[in-house]
Amino acid sequence: MAGTGRMQGRNALVTGATGGIGRAVAIALAREGATVVVSGRDAERGEDIVRRIGDEGGKAVFVPADLGAGGQAVRDLARDATAAVGVIDVLVNNAAVLIPAQSMLEATEEEIDRALAVNIKAPFLLTAALVPSMVERGGGAVVNMGSINGEVGMDVAALYGASKAGLHSLTKSWAAELAAKNVRVNTVAPGPTTTEHNVAHKERQESLTSAHPRRRPGTAEEVAAAVVFLAGDDATHIHGVTLPVDGGFLAL
Ligand SMILES: NC(=O)c1ccc[n+]([C@@H]2O[C@H](COP(=O)([O-])OP(=O)(O)OC[C@H]3O[C@@H](n4cnc5c(N)ncnc54)[C@H](OP(=O)(O)O)[C@@H]3O)[C@@H](O)[C@H]2O)c1
Repeated sequence: MAGTGRMQGRNALVTGATGGIGRAVAIALAREGATVVVSGRDAERGEDIVRRIGDEGGKAVFVPADLGAGGQAVRDLARDATAAVGVIDVLVNNAAVLIPAQSMLEATEEEIDRALAVNIKAPFLLTAALVPSMVERGGGAVVNMGSINGEVGMDVAALYGASKAGLHSLTKSWAAELAAKNVRVNTVAPGPTTTEHNVAHKERQESLTSAHPRRRPGTAEEVAAAVVFLAGDDATHIHGVTLPVDGGFLAL
């Protein structure tokens, strides 16, 4: 198994780890020695990733959760993940509702509620549920999955962008609140990233990135590498940053 063992002895919970970027994050953390709780709604895909990590010699368990189902479901995930592996040292708030490109005139009230429930309320409650035991254990790391859409306006991404901007803001406030307790909170903000789910949108992603410095979409593994960095001991003095992994998208 590749990796330097820099996450050895740590327990990590990755939401939305049943596919895409979250799956790559779960695999990367496991390769570095973490015991990983893979979470999502789809048990079949979740168990598949657990098996894959196990086949590589890593440690993982699947704990299901629907993060759009309200506060109790989120608190249940915190409880069940802790029961499965012990105190969570690393929380990766990755799951999100990815709203298809739409005019703000088209967004329904139900879509607004769902986006805010999964993209803001769930990470808020999950982080609040897990931080006390991190503090008790002497420290921990939270890595949020933001987006370049949280930094720049896009005419077809108002709701999604607002939810990600909210997460970028929470990152700074939580970092300020928790740094003295040795809990670090940071965010990774990917640009267009190719995953097994959105390979069908390759053309749109390529046109989005064609005018930007690196001129290609990122990969889930490139985003995962940044998450592992921010979660680990190479980043012990980094608090409250939003790190773009975007091929220079935000540089222009
Ligand atoms: N791909 C990109 O271009 C890109 C760019 C910038 C930022 N991001 C961010 O990166 C993260 C991952 O995106 P992705 O492209 O990997 O998306 P994805 O392939 O669609 O994965 C989304 C994950 O979130 C989980 N999820 C969705 N709704 C959920 C719910 N109600 N409860 C629990 N889990 C839920 C899904 O699992 P289940 O279906 O099993 O529930 C899935 O594992 C998101 O935060 C996204 O905003 C992606």
